[in-house]
Amino acid sequence: NEVKVFCPATVANISCGFDVLGVALDAVGDEMTVRKVTEKGIKITKLSGQDLPKETLNNVAGVAGNAFLLAADYEGGFEIEINKKIKPGSGIGSSAASSAGAVWAMNHLLDYPFNNTDLVKFAMEGERLASDVAHADNVAPALFGGFTLVRSYSPLDIITIPAPSELFITIIHPQIEIKTSDSRKILKTTISMETGIKQWGNVGGLIAGLFKEDYALIGRSLEDHIVEPIRSILIPGFDEVKKTALSAGALGSGISGSGPSIFAFSKGKETAIKVGNAMKLVYDKIGIAYEIHVSKIN
Ligand code: HSE
Repeated sequence: NEVKVFCPATVANISCGFDVLGVALDAVGDEMTVRKVTEKGIKITKLSGQDLPKETLNNVAGVAGNAFLLAADYEGGFEIEINKKIKPGSGIGSSAASSAGAVWAMNHLLDYPFNNTDLVKFAMEGERLASDVAHADNVAPALFGGFTLVRSYSPLDIITIPAPSELFITIIHPQIEIKTSDSRKILKTTISMETGIKQWGNVGGLIAGLFKEDYALIGRSLEDHIVEPIRSILIPGFDEVKKTALSAGALGSGISGSGPSIFAFSKGKETAIKVGNAMKLVYDKIGIAYEIHVSKIN
């Protein structure tokens, strides 16, 4: 009647795939315990690690859980304990981890009435609360694992994509907070045909590179002509961190989700660590505290 789950952090967008591409990390995540109770509704009984609201309707796990309950053929409710390790506003899917973890655990406790795509739909309601937009590019990889593509939002169509065996990801999180809702407001709502052509060339290239285990193709497809030029202004030292990561041997680098975290892909763990050490130096120089993670992609 109780399950403890690991809820992974995720990197959304992966440069070229705004709102459609994402990947789950194995080294960073929250822990959550979910209990089946006879009392109706969702109750957040414990929340440690971060200062976040516990009221069901103000908490992403509560809202995602309510969406699950509304669709489930179940009279009772659930209690949730969250040990939040991912900082909100970090750009590595903090809200998605809680939303996805809650609905995954509930589905498990009711013996799997829903498939993963249904769960993504429920978890997206948590994202709507957190960022005003029900985007799926963090909750999809959190639920499916590995790389995911949201091929379509309506109807929801999620495709899992294999990860090459030697692909590692380095994340540096400068300790400032950027709200996804704020960093979405500054984006333009239209793009030119010319920009579109460059962008979908890269999305196709990245997907092909992942399938073919072609690391060079993955690297040269990690370009973003739409979002990064606008959002990078919010991230101190972004251009230099990216340049440094590439000189240290990264295949490519970009903004993680809506920032401020910056990710880099590398072939092999050693290179990923070296890239992290190089990225650190930039923030040491400008005097901004940071956290760093190196993760394999499964
Ligand atoms: N695709 C979303 C955005 C992800 O970039 O706004 C937020 O983590």
